[in-house]
Amino acid sequence: MEQYIIKGGNPLVGEVEISGAKNAALGILAAAIMTDDTVLIENLPDVRDINVLLEAMESIGVRVERLTRHTVLLNSADVGEVCVDYEYIKKIRASYYLIGALLGKHKMARVPLPGGCNIGSRPIDLHIKGFKALGAHVSIRNGFIIAETDHLHGSHIYLDTVSVGATINIMMAAAMADGRTIIENCAREPHVVDVANFLNSMGASIRGAGTDVIRIRGVEKLHKTEYSIIPDQIEAGTFMFAAAATKGDVMVKHVIPKHLEATTAKLLEIGCEVEEFDDAVRVVASRRLQSTNVKTLPYPGYPTDMQPQIGVTLAIAKGTSIVTESIFENRFKYLDELARMGAEARVESNTAIITGVEKLTGARMSVPDLRAGAALVIAGLAAEGETILDDIVYIQRGYEAFEEKLRGLGAEIEKVDTERELRKFRLRHG
Ligand code: EPZ
Repeated sequence: MEQYIIKGGNPLVGEVEISGAKNAALGILAAAIMTDDTVLIENLPDVRDINVLLEAMESIGVRVERLTRHTVLLNSADVGEVCVDYEYIKKIRASYYLIGALLGKHKMARVPLPGGCNIGSRPIDLHIKGFKALGAHVSIRNGFIIAETDHLHGSHIYLDTVSVGATINIMMAAAMADGRTIIENCAREPHVVDVANFLNSMGASIRGAGTDVIRIRGVEKLHKTEYSIIPDQIEAGTFMFAAAATKGDVMVKHVIPKHLEATTAKLLEIGCEVEEFDDAVRVVASRRLQSTNVKTLPYPGYPTDMQPQIGVTLAIAKGTSIVTESIFENRFKYLDELARMGAEARVESNTAIITGVEKLTGARMSVPDLRAGAALVIAGLAAEGETILDDIVYIQRGYEAFEEKLRGLGAEIEKVDTERELRKFRLRHG
C-alpha cells in the first residue's frame, strides 16, 4: 500500500504551479456529453477522480482521446447506453453529474445512487427535486437512480440548501429543457460559474451563475467548443497554508486571486503576509502564527474544503482557535490523527476548539479523506521528525503530483511502497 514519508522542519520556499480545478472539471466533463460534436478541454488536472470519470464516460460510449496529460478530445455522438456502471460511482460520487447531462440530452439516465463518504451522508434529494420539477420521472430501484421523461420543461426551482452539486446538475438538465428555468438559492462557487461558462460556450443560454439566482433558457442543441478549466482554488489554498504552517515563502502561480479572498483573509488574520499578483499570490510567514476563529460557509465564505488545512495550521498557532464546520457533519476526523502528533483539540458537535502548541512531532497516521489527507501532509511538513501517512490514495484523488510539487518547494517527502524504499528515504534524509 503506498504511503507518504515526510521529514518535517523545512520551511517551504519557492514557486508552485496550480493545476486545473478538479470540481469544475468533473461538471464540465459530464456536460461535454450534451453535444454530438467534438469538444476540446484543456487544463484538466491529472488526478484520479478525473481519470475515473473519463473511464465512466468511455463505458457509456463517449470517444475519449487524451492529447496531452492535461488536454482531452471528447465525442459523444455514439452515446447509446445511458446506464453508468456501479464500479465508477463507487469510486467517485461526482459521476452523478452524468444524470443531469444525460437527462438534458437523452431525456433518460440510469446512474447508481452515490454512497455517502467520509465527511458526511451527502444526500442528493435536491438534485432529484430539481429533475422532477423539470418534468422527469425519477425513481430509485436496485441501487440506481432512474430519471426519464418524454418532455423536459422549464421550471422555477428553489434549493432549500445551498448545494454545489444540485446547482450544477439541475443547470445541465435545464440547459436543454424546453422553456425557461429559474434556480434560486444557488451555489456561487467559481466551479459553478466555470460549468455555466462551458455550457454557454456550447450554445447554452445561462445567466446569473456566480449569484444566487441562475436563469436558463433551454436550447435544442449544443455545439462543439474548446475550453480551458479554471485554476483549482482549493489546491492553491492548500499550498498557501503549507507555506504558512512551515514558516515559508511561497509564490503560488496560475491562480485567480479573487477566488482565494476568504483564504487570504484568514492567512492575514493569523499573521502571514500575502501579496497578490495578476495570476499568483505570495505567502510569507516569518514569525509564530496567531490563533483565530473560522466558520465554513458556501462561497464566497470560507470554504469547507479548506477547513482541515486551517485546522492543522491553528494547531501550532499561539492561542486557542474555534473552527466551526457548517457544511458537512463529519469533517473533523483529522483531529483524531493530529492528536498523535501532540495537537490539543476537542470537538463539540460541529465545532473544534484548538489550543495551539509550540511544536508537533511526526507520527504514523492514516488519511481519512481527501482534504484531511492534504492537511495531515501540511502537519507532517511543519512537525519535528518523521511522519508516515497511510491511505494516500484519497489525496491522489484531488491533488496532481502533490509530493513532486512539495519537493519543488524544499519539502522532504516521498511516496513509498516498500520497506526498502522507506529505508532508502531514511538513509538519504537522516
Ligand atoms: C461539492 O460537493 C464538492 N465536490 C465538495 O468538495 C465540496 O466540499 C462541496 O461541494 C461544498 O463546497 C465536488 O464538487 C465534486 P454540496 P457537493 O451539494 O456538491 C447538502 C472536495 O474536497 N445537500 O454543496 O456534494 C449536503 O449534505 C469535495 O473536493 C443536501 O442536503 O456538496 C451538504 O451539507 C469534498 N441535499 C450541503 O448540502 C442535496 O441534494 C452542501 O453540499 C445536496 C446537498
